[in-house]
Amino acid sequence: MRILFINGPNLNLLGRRETGIYGRTSLAEIKKRVMQRARALRVTVVFLQSNHEGELVDHIGAASGRYEAIVINPAAYTHTSIALRDAIAAVGLPTVEIHLSNIHAREDFRHRSLTAPVCAGQICGFGPNSYLLGLEAAVLLAKTVGKQP
Ligand code: DQA
Repeated sequence: MRILFINGPNLNLLGRRETGIYGRTSLAEIKKRVMQRARALRVTVVFLQSNHEGELVDHIGAASGRYEAIVINPAAYTHTSIALRDAIAAVGLPTVEIHLSNIHAREDFRHRSLTAPVCAGQICGFGPNSYLLGLEAAVLLAKTVGKQP
């Protein structure tokens, strides 16, 4: 099974970016933890990050037939990007939206996710563990695609 992890803008700055909100764990360290858990679950993970909306759209669009599920932290594009939402809907792969912070407990503009309605579900507020929970959810989803929940 292959799972695609997609990270949006500014997540490359994790570890030194607004540490009171996002903590001191870097994206490289999060990737290491995800890869470790993926090995234990015997799944292959491809983990990428981009600050560019169009590049993220391209990665999602190319995922069909190559991955069984997507885990995405769209970062600020969560709240603004119809293009990302349409890409997720178009590709039709089971997708899990994740966030480090609890976006519902923050500023009003973060409460609305344009991408969540086309995802299977959303995991937020667990810091780096949102990534591990996202992985578990994606594996379960991919295993049960087309079956009754
Ligand atoms: C975030 C939450 C977003 O609102 C914010 O723009 C981010 C990070 C998170 O992981 O908590 O960049 O997606």
